[in-house]
Amino acid sequence: MEIFSKHSSLHTHALILLLLLFPAVHSIGVNYGTLGDNLPPPSQVAHFLKSRTIIDRIRIFDVNHDIIKSFANSGILVSVTLPNGDIPSLTDPRNARRWIDANIRPFYPATKIHYICVGTEVLHWGPQKLIDNLVPAMKVLHAALVKEGFGDIKISTPHSLGILQSSDPPSNASFRPGWDVGSLAPMLEFLKETKSGFMVNPYTYFGYSPANANFCLFKPNAGLFDKATGITYTNQFDQLMDAVHVSMKKLGYPDVEIVVAETGWPSGGDPANVHANPVNAAAYIGGLMKKVNSGDGTPLMPGRKFETYIFALFNENLKGPSLDEKNFGLFRPDFTQVYNVGIEHAPLAPSPSPMADGPKSSAADAPKSRWKDAPFFNKTNSSSGSPAKAPPPASSTTTTDANVRASSPAATNANVVFAARSAAAIILAVALLV
Ligand SMILES: *[C@@H]1O[C@H](CO)[C@@H](O)[C@H](O)[C@H]1NC(C)=O
Ligand SMILES: *[C@@H]1O[C@H](CO)[C@@H](O)[C@H](O)[C@H]1NC(C)=O
Ligand SMILES: *[C@@H]1O[C@H](CO)[C@@H](O)[C@H](O)[C@H]1NC(C)=O
Repeated sequence: MEIFSKHSSLHTHALILLLLLFPAVHSIGVNYGTLGDNLPPPSQVAHFLKSRTIIDRIRIFDVNHDIIKSFANSGILVSVTLPNGDIPSLTDPRNARRWIDANIRPFYPATKIHYICVGTEVLHWGPQKLIDNLVPAMKVLHAALVKEGFGDIKISTPHSLGILQSSDPPSNASFRPGWDVGSLAPMLEFLKETKSGFMVNPYTYFGYSPANANFCLFKPNAGLFDKATGITYTNQFDQLMDAVHVSMKKLGYPDVEIVVAETGWPSGGDPANVHANPVNAAAYIGGLMKKVNSGDGTPLMPGRKFETYIFALFNENLKGPSLDEKNFGLFRPDFTQVYNVGIEHAPLAPSPSPMADGPKSSAADAPKSRWKDAPFFNKTNSSSGSPAKAPPPASSTTTTDANVRASSPAATNANVVFAARSAAAIILAVALLV
C-alpha cells in the first residue's frame, strides 16, 4: 500500500500492532426491509450507512428503484430481490431482458449491484410451480445478464434451513429428499459454474430453547458433541453452517461459497418470548460479527469467510403478526441504535443499558418458538418487503447448558471490544497524519 512508503517504519509497526490487537471488522451486510410506515427516505438511509456505520453492503427484498438510486456512488454494494411471483415469467429470455432493462440497466454501475436474488426461500414457501421454475429462471437471467454486458452481477437465491433434513449432528446432515437432487444439485452446479454463492438464512433464534440459550447466543456452554467427527460445537451458528456444508458435500459441492443472506435476533417480542430482548440481540449479533470477521470459519470449514447480512436494518412496525417480527432491527426509524455492538462508528456517548429499551415481558414460562412444530410446506407466499422468518431445520438441538437463566452481560463485553477498536482507529488515523 502506497501510503506506508510515506511514513516511517515506526508508524508501520504501530499500525501492524494495532491491527493485531484489534482485528478490523472487514465487512458486514444488512437486510434493508421496508415494511414500516415510519421509515426514513432511502437517500437518508444511504447517507447514514455510508457516513455513520461499518455496513458496506445491503440486500433489499425487491427492486425498489428509489433505494437502488439512492445508493449510487455510495460504495455500498446493493443486492436486490426478484419477487417470487415473477420467477416463472423469467424463464423466457425476452422477459429476462426486459426485466434487466427496467431494473438493472438504468442504475448500474453507478449503483454497485452485487447479487440478484431470484426469489426468497422459494423451496420453503412454494408453490411447486415456482420451485420447478427456480433454477431455469436463474440460468436464463444469468445468460441475459452476460449477453447485456452485466456479467459481473451474481445470481443466487436464499434458502431457509427448512431445506435440511436434519442438522444434529452436523456430520449426519443432508438436504431434504426430493429437493436435494431435484432442485439443489442443479442449483449448486449453476452456482459453481458462475462462481456465485449458496445463500442460506440460519436463525439460531428459531432453534432457541431455555436449555440451549447460551449455545444459541455465542456464550460459554458445554457444547454439542459430534461423535462421528469428534468435534464439540460451541455455538449453534457453527452447527447450522457445518450442517449446510455437509449437505452440500454429499451432493458433490463442498467448495461453493456460502453466503449468510439473513440472520438476526429480535430485541423485543411477544410476552411469551422473553428471550427476544436487547441483551440477547446484542450478544448474538456481537458474537456473529466477531465470528464472521475472525476468519476462523467453522470446525468443518476452517479459515473460510462468509459474506453475511444481518436481519435487519430497521425495526419494521408493519411486520407481524408477532412482536418479534417487528423488532429485528439494529436501528429504530429515527436512526438511534437499539443496542450497541459497534456497527455505528464511535458512539459519542455510551449508550444506555440495553435493558432500558426492553419490552416489559411478564412471565417466565418456557418460551417456545411458534415455528418449532410448523410444517415446512405449503405456507402462504412471502410477499415483497422482508419475508416472515422461517422455521429451523427439522431436528432441533439439544445441549446441556448449566447457565440457562443467568442473564450475563455479554453485550457489555462486546461494547468494550468495539469501543477499544474505535479508539484504535482514532490512534491509527493520528499516527498516519503525523
Ligand atoms: C402465491 O403465489 C402464486 C404465484 O405467484 C399466486 O398465484 C398465489 O395467488 C399466491 N398465493 C397467496 C396465498 O398469496
Ligand atoms: C442420520 O440421519 C438419518 C436421516 O436423517 C437418520 O435416520 C439417522 O438416525 C441419523 N443418524 C444419526 C447417528 O444421527
Ligand atoms: C403441497 O402442495 C402440493 C401441490 O402444490 C401437494 O401436492 C402437496 O401434497 C402439499 N404438501 C403438503 C404437505 O400439504
